Amino acid sequence: MSTDTIASPTASPVQRHVTTALRGQPAEDGAGVRLTRVFQARSTLNLDPFLMLDEFASEQADDYIAGFPSHPHRGFETVTYMLQGHMLHEDHLGHQGHLRDGDVQWMTAGRGIIHSEMPQQKEGRMRGFQLWINLPAAEKMKPAAYRDIPAAQIPRAELADGGWVKVIAGTATDAQGQSVHGPIQGLSTEPLYLHAHLPVGARWQTAVPAGHTALVYVADGEVLIDGRALHQGWAGVLGDGTQLSLTAGPQGADVLLLAGKPLREPVVQYGPFVMNTREEIDQALRDYSQGTLTGPEN
Ligand code: FE2
Repeated sequence: MSTDTIASPTASPVQRHVTTALRGQPAEDGAGVRLTRVFQARSTLNLDPFLMLDEFASEQADDYIAGFPSHPHRGFETVTYMLQGHMLHEDHLGHQGHLRDGDVQWMTAGRGIIHSEMPQQKEGRMRGFQLWINLPAAEKMKPAAYRDIPAAQIPRAELADGGWVKVIAGTATDAQGQSVHGPIQGLSTEPLYLHAHLPVGARWQTAVPAGHTALVYVADGEVLIDGRALHQGWAGVLGDGTQLSLTAGPQGADVLLLAGKPLREPVVQYGPFVMNTREEIDQALRDYSQGTLTGPEN
């Protein structure tokens, strides 16, 4: 066997560069929540398996108080990461989950869930993110499930220079080269969801699996990736490679790094339903109107 066809484990990392910069756009959703839509999948923007990323950030109660009253989902996962504030999640099965500073809820809609996400504060700052991740065809009709992950259960990889990385999904490496595993592991899309907090001028290098879709979102401050500046509120879609290297700007930076294995399946979305065919969307609409979205027994 020729050895030149076998990738060497010591091969040099291939840096990922920013191929497209996207600026989050003002949007309104739920019962009138004002938010920033960082991206939404469309024909000209394929971020498979990611479908959408929203940031909600406001000191004004009028921007968030209406919340997200009862609504359905089918065919994908939603990940809510609260930075500040207090939100209550309730679903059709009677589950309740309180999300407070630093908490995460990883919800798998699967066949169907009907839930609400309502602010539990009448004033003060509310800030967080909601990410939508697609499910493969074989898992779109599995039973709904969710995990509430308290902030204390989200491990931190300490970096050199005083920075840190919270590992929500997948694995990061700390300053000593030790792997730090997040609470979410083993999903088909192999998601990597990291929140890096970087002091002024700090450099962060982290592995990103080759072939996986990846993007960086700058929540605060500014970063430089291969000499290209990304400011607060901008996302940088990354080209292929095995490693991301970035440097925090003059105010430091907080960034999200999202990566996932593409499903390479047809995507047909109608609002809160994301399926593979138009017929499956029609079925979801029929099931919802007949009260069987979440299963015949519910
Ligand atoms: Fe929802």
